[in-house]
Amino acid sequence: MEGEQKRKVILSGMQPTGGLHIGHLTGALRNWVEFQSEFECYYTIVDLHAITVRQEPAKLRQWTLDLAATFIAAGINPEQAHIFVQSHVPEHTQLAWVLNCFTGMGECSRMTQFKDKSQKYPENVNVGLFAYPVLMAADILLYQADLIPVGADQKQHLELTRNLAERFNNLYSPTFKVPEPYIPKIGAKIMNLQNPTKKMSKTDEAQLGVLYLTDTPEQIKNKINRAVTDSGSEIKFSDTKPGISNLITLYHIATGKSIEQIEQEFAGRGYGEFKKAVGEALVEFLEPFRNRYKELRAEEGYLFDVLRKGAEQARVVAQKTLRKVYKKIGFVML
Ligand code: TRP
Repeated sequence: MEGEQKRKVILSGMQPTGGLHIGHLTGALRNWVEFQSEFECYYTIVDLHAITVRQEPAKLRQWTLDLAATFIAAGINPEQAHIFVQSHVPEHTQLAWVLNCFTGMGECSRMTQFKDKSQKYPENVNVGLFAYPVLMAADILLYQADLIPVGADQKQHLELTRNLAERFNNLYSPTFKVPEPYIPKIGAKIMNLQNPTKKMSKTDEAQLGVLYLTDTPEQIKNKINRAVTDSGSEIKFSDTKPGISNLITLYHIATGKSIEQIEQEFAGRGYGEFKKAVGEALVEFLEPFRNRYKELRAEEGYLFDVLRKGAEQARVVAQKTLRKVYKKIGFVML
């Protein structure tokens, strides 16, 4: 409609490389759910990015569908937001190739994630891993996205995306919207239960330290019981007590109680009692998600419908941008 303001576009992606943990729910996904009423949202499962490190085919397939079910169980409404798999929209790879030709080798080799990952997997430092941020730029620029919610570790990739957009716009004519990062206010940072000075991560070796969204009540309680705690016996939030502080954070997330309230509630009570309470609170907190997830995951037909529709909608926008790009660089258009 004329005069009507177009809704701003949000785009974000997650890799299907393992089950999501509680930090994803209380961090990224909670924000994604909030955005959907106000913005035009594209949430993509980035399987093309996932293969920059070796993946087992059966697992990759499973994790991709798991992630689709996770998005919906977390509250993303496929009628409101576009949920799709990156490889279902071939324009991502097509634009990535074009952008590769506008990216300097130096720009990619400076990326900290590339340096970290090539150290972690020295036997497989492949060209895809090197060009990973260029594919990410394509994900974003195809949709003329305004805002990109990402963790702080992705900020550098976003800076490259902005540079590429500006470079192309200046060389030809305005083509891409230059996106802004949206780094959420640091909510509660959740640490590995076995190694509370390290962030909880789905690819972590210390599996006992990761609270997966699909863990059973028994697994949750067991992991909390076995969580590494600090010397002393006080339930107090402090830098010198990373283990107990992490459990306090989790209890805060599960119950909504403030840190002070929690410290008061457990004053004079021991770690054992506190852990029991944390485990039970988390079981209750995660229950609705888990039930919804189980239902959805059992309905693959429905998940495929959502992904098919999401990809169709995404393609309309992606094709439009790609055609513009092809035309400007001088490709013959049929
Ligand atoms: N690289 C991002 C990560 O690992 C995932 C991602 C891929 C992404 N494409 C994106 C995030 C586009 C935001 C926008 O977290």
